[in-house]
Amino acid sequence: TKQENVRNFSIIAHIDHGKSTLADRILEKTKALTQREMKEQFLDAMDLERERGITIKLNAVQLNYKHKNEEEYLFHLIDTPGHVDFTYEVSRSLAACEGAVLVVDAAQGIEAQTLANVYLALDNELELIPVINKIDLPNADSDRVAQELEDVIGIDKDDVILASAKDDIGVDEIMERIVSDVPAPSGEPDKPLKALIFDSVYDPYRGVITYICIKEGSVKVGDKIKLMANGKEFEVNEIGVFRPNPVPKQGLSVGDVGFLTASIKNVGDTRVGDTITLSNSPAENPLPGYKRLNPMVFCGLFPVDSNQYNDLREALERLELNDSSLQYEAESSQALGFGFRCGFLGLLHMEIIQERIEREFNIDLITTAPSVIYEVEKTDGDIMEVDNPSTMPDSQLVNEVREPFVEATIMVPNEYVGPVMEIAQKKRGQFVDMKYLDEVRVNIVYHIPLSEIVYAFFDQLKSKTKGYASFDYELIGYRPSNLVKMDILLNGDTIDALSFIVHRDFAYERGKHIVDKLKDLIPKQQFEVPVQAAIGNKIIARSTIKAMKKNVLSKCYGGDISRKRKLLEKQKEGKKRMKMVGSVEVPQEAFMSVLEMN
Ligand code: GTP
Repeated sequence: TKQENVRNFSIIAHIDHGKSTLADRILEKTKALTQREMKEQFLDAMDLERERGITIKLNAVQLNYKHKNEEEYLFHLIDTPGHVDFTYEVSRSLAACEGAVLVVDAAQGIEAQTLANVYLALDNELELIPVINKIDLPNADSDRVAQELEDVIGIDKDDVILASAKDDIGVDEIMERIVSDVPAPSGEPDKPLKALIFDSVYDPYRGVITYICIKEGSVKVGDKIKLMANGKEFEVNEIGVFRPNPVPKQGLSVGDVGFLTASIKNVGDTRVGDTITLSNSPAENPLPGYKRLNPMVFCGLFPVDSNQYNDLREALERLELNDSSLQYEAESSQALGFGFRCGFLGLLHMEIIQERIEREFNIDLITTAPSVIYEVEKTDGDIMEVDNPSTMPDSQLVNEVREPFVEATIMVPNEYVGPVMEIAQKKRGQFVDMKYLDEVRVNIVYHIPLSEIVYAFFDQLKSKTKGYASFDYELIGYRPSNLVKMDILLNGDTIDALSFIVHRDFAYERGKHIVDKLKDLIPKQQFEVPVQAAIGNKIIARSTIKAMKKNVLSKCYGGDISRKRKLLEKQKEGKKRMKMVGSVEVPQEAFMSVLEMN
C-alpha cells in the first residue's frame, strides 16, 4: 500500500462508552476476525483485564479497508489503556497516530476521561472524529451531547457521527471519515530511522517484543538498532505486524505499525516513548515526548507466611520483566519481617500487581497502606525523599515537608456539587474552578494532595454522588504542607508498618479514628491490648482491645466432633491473613484501616 493510503488512528473514550465494542465492529467489518474469534472482545487480552473490564496493555492491529471508491487503504488501529494511572502510555500511543475517533455515550455525555483524552489527542495534534455512540438507548440524548461537544470541546456539532456500535449504525461512516479526515503519515522513507516505541511485552522465548510505529526511514531484519534513551544496541531478529495475529515481515517503513524483536532481555531497555534508530546511520534527535516514568505510590508487600519470601521475590522479578514501571526493593519491618517496598504508577496499578501475585503465584500478602513520596528538608539542609512513613525523621529534625499535589477534575450533575465540595474540603482540597458543561452538568476543579486521593477519594466520591461523578487527575508538583508522622503502638510497642503521615490539623481526629478502628479490627487476644496513636513522644489517642474471655471451642462443648472441626476450620480461614506482630495477632485489614479515614 502507498504511504498516502495509510491511516493510523486510535479510539478514545471514557470507560464504558463503547470503545472496545466499536473496535470489534471495525475488526469485523474489515474481516480481520472470524465470527468465532469475535466471541471474545479481541483487544482486551488478559484475564484480569476482562474481569475488571479495563484495558491495561496497548495493542495495535493492521486492517485492510476497501473504500467505496474502490481504493484500498491500510488501517492501523492502536488501542489505548483507559485509566488515569496509564496516562503517559496513552499519550505515547496517541503519538503513533494522526487521528482519533472520539467516542461519547449518547446517554452520559462528556465525562472526565473524555476531556483528559481529548487534551492528550490535541497535544499530539490529532485529527478528531467525534462519534456519539449508543444512540439506540431509550435514554439517548444525542442533541444535548452534540451541543456539549460543541460548547466544551469546540467541535462543530454538524460534524458529529451518530452511531450504535452495538446495532452497527454509523460504523461505515466512521471508517469513511477515517479515510477522508485523518491525514496519512508524513515521514520520509529515506531519512534515518526513527521508530516510536509505544509498548513492549516480555516473551520468554523471543525476549522483549517491542511495539513500534515508524515515523521516519525504515528497518529490516538483521539491522543493528540503537535505543536512543540508553544507547544500547541490538540486532533485529524478527519484524512483523498484527493482523491481529502476528505475521512476519522482512521490514517496516514510514507509516507502518508493527513489532520487532532483537533478543532484548529486559522491558526496562525498551521504554515506552523512546526512539529506535539504526546504529550505522543514526537519527540526530529522538522523537519528542519521551519521559521516564516514576512510580507515585508506594507500599510494603510482605508474605503472610515468611517462608514465602523468596517466592515473593521471584514473583516480583517475573512481573518486572513485563512492567518497567514496577519498582521494588527489599524492606524489613520490625512488625512484618522481610518483604519488599514497591512503587507503582497509581492505585489501580498497585491493585493489579497485588492481585497477580496472589492469583498467579499463590502467595498470600500483607500489604501496608499506600504512601506517596514526600520531600523532606531537614534542619541541617539535607533533602531526603521519603516513600515509607516509618522512615520520616523526627519533627524536631525537619524544616519543611513537601508533598505532591494533583489537579483533580470532577464532573457531576449539579445536585451533587455540595457533596463533592464537602469531600474535596475534607481532603484538604483548594478550590480552583467550577463551570457548567450544560444546564445540569458541572465541571469542578480542585488542587488536592495526592496522598488524599490515594486515601479512598474516588470511593467516597462515587458513594456520595450515587456513581454519577467522573474523575481524573494530573500531577502538578510539590507544595509545602504542615505534615507530621503518626505512630501507632500496640501493647506499648511502635508498629512500624502502621505509621502514616498526616496533616497536623487533622492529626487528632485521624489518630482517634484509627485507634477506634484498630480496636474493632484486631481480634481479642488472651490479654488486654492498649492501642495508642502518638506524634513523637506524645500520645494523642488511645483505645483498648479487651481480653478474650473464652476459647471459641468452649462454646460447643459436648457438641459433635464435625461441628468442632468446622469451627476450627473457620478459625483457620480467618487466620489466613493474620500476622503475629510482637505478641499481638493483627489482620490484613488493620494495615489498610488508615485508608478509610474521612
Ligand atoms: P473500557 O474497556 O472499560 O474502557 O470500556 P469501553 O469503552 O471499551 O466500553 P465497551 O465497548 O466495553 O462497552 C461498554 C458497555 O456498553 C458494554 O456493555 C457494551 O455492550 C455496551 N455498548 C457498547 N456500544 C453500545 C451501543 O452502541 N449501544 C448500546 N446499547 N450499548 C453499547
